[in-house]
Amino acid sequence: MTKHLFNPIRLGIHTLAHRVAMAPLTRSRAGQPGNVPTAMNVEYYRQRASAALIVTEATQISQQGQGYAWTPGIHTEEQVQGWHAVSEAVHAEGGTIFLQLWHVGRVSHPIFQPDGALPVAPSALPVPGKTFIIDENGNGAWGDVPVPQKLNESGIRAIVEDYRRAARNAIVAGMDGVEIHAGNGYLLDQFINSNSNQRTDAYGGSIENRARLLLEVVDAVAAEVGASRVAVRLTPMGRFMGMGDDTPEATFGYIVRQLNVRDLAYLHLVEPAMVGTVKDENFDPRWDAIIHLLRLEYNGVLMLAGGYDRDSAERALASGRADIIAFGRPFIANPDLPVRLRDNLALNTPDAGSFFGGDAVGYIDYPAAA
Ligand code: FNR
Repeated sequence: MTKHLFNPIRLGIHTLAHRVAMAPLTRSRAGQPGNVPTAMNVEYYRQRASAALIVTEATQISQQGQGYAWTPGIHTEEQVQGWHAVSEAVHAEGGTIFLQLWHVGRVSHPIFQPDGALPVAPSALPVPGKTFIIDENGNGAWGDVPVPQKLNESGIRAIVEDYRRAARNAIVAGMDGVEIHAGNGYLLDQFINSNSNQRTDAYGGSIENRARLLLEVVDAVAAEVGASRVAVRLTPMGRFMGMGDDTPEATFGYIVRQLNVRDLAYLHLVEPAMVGTVKDENFDPRWDAIIHLLRLEYNGVLMLAGGYDRDSAERALASGRADIIAFGRPFIANPDLPVRLRDNLALNTPDAGSFFGGDAVGYIDYPAAA
């Protein structure tokens, strides 16, 4: 049967009514102090509960895992309660929601770190660029990213345990599952890509070694909450935050084959033409080919994101390139995106100026279609 956006699909233990998912979207509006989801955050997700699946904004697994101002966590009791209100509201509307687990690694700043420590990374190599911090007056500001400290093996083991605990917390908070964020140049991606990992121990060098931390995290989280509640997001050939790998086809091919045998809820890939939140116009033909290659390798449910609209999403499903499409910016501006796509209604335009930080404006005030 040809696949369409409005065919149901089975995902782990859930049956989704259609295939229009909401991509994970950092909005930097967690309650302060404590980075706790608020009533406003509950309303934002409730409005979007008609998504086949909501993947929440990236959520730090520990204080060490935070890299930007006002992002929510899932490592304190208050945060678990805050997320519980979110999952309850989404479930009351008939929705399904996975929480995205996040550790930024080197993309951080001492102001976020326990005891003002240096951020951690596979190697003492700084990310080119800045991160969004809080200045001395409590305002958001772009700050330089320092040279990170190289993790030792006990530090790595502690992080695997942080992922395990965060996954358990997410289930306690009523989430239907967790998506492990292993893309966009954050900690797990820093281990995977050859240009940010110069280790010579069991976590660096060969592809097997660079993939080791991701697979240990997947195994720990799956042992904790069950593989059918676990997903992974990768950004193969993504260049955001200075990523680059010498042999991306081999590296990501190996990872996907390893994920196959773990029987996860789904695998989520971002089209490599996206660099963070913008489309890179310097087209590299291998970008298209690598997604095709990984699709052929992966036996389970494959979600794709990155610049999709109604027509390109239908084409991707019909050709078998993807099983589900995640929409990011269109979901920011259109809380009722699925019905708009189904009925081919006009879309609201997202306002990039209110993506990160701020109040209800540009957050919970986008109108549903009349
Ligand atoms: C993102 N993206 C993103 N990805 C991720 O894995 N975790 C996250 O927290 C975020 N945060 C985020 C915030 C904002 C404001 C944007 C625009 C994007 C990337 C996002 O999930 C998606 O891959 C891209 O936006 C491309 O999809 P669209 O927007 O072209 O549909």
